[in-house]
Amino acid sequence: MTTRYSVRFVNSSGEWSVEVEHGTDLLEASRMCDAPVQTLCNGIGACVQCKVRVLENPENLSDPQTLEKDKMGNIFHITGERLGCQAKVEGPVVIEPLPARLPKKKRMRLRRS
Ligand code: FES
Repeated sequence: MTTRYSVRFVNSSGEWSVEVEHGTDLLEASRMCDAPVQTLCNGIGACVQCKVRVLENPENLSDPQTLEKDKMGNIFHITGERLGCQAKVEGPVVIEPLPARLPKKKRMRLRRS
């Protein structure tokens, strides 16, 4: 029998819950319950749109690996933010999906048009 853990997403728009298998990443978990975690790269770790804030039990997520540290810096312990596509569930967690932010170049292009 596979161990399953509860993942609860909470923000000002609502609350979404799902039970996932050990090792499921937070982006995949969000898709299972329609929680609003954003992506432009479909989870390959390139876009940084899938940022989430860990509200409870950060120790129940996999440790940040090189790709995530390269994208986010080493600030998890200060901000509580992780990349949803890289953080894997290893126990029950509560997560806040963060609003998507367009890359600076795209923001500038959008302003000019
Ligand atoms: S989905 Fe693009 S970096 Fe996570």
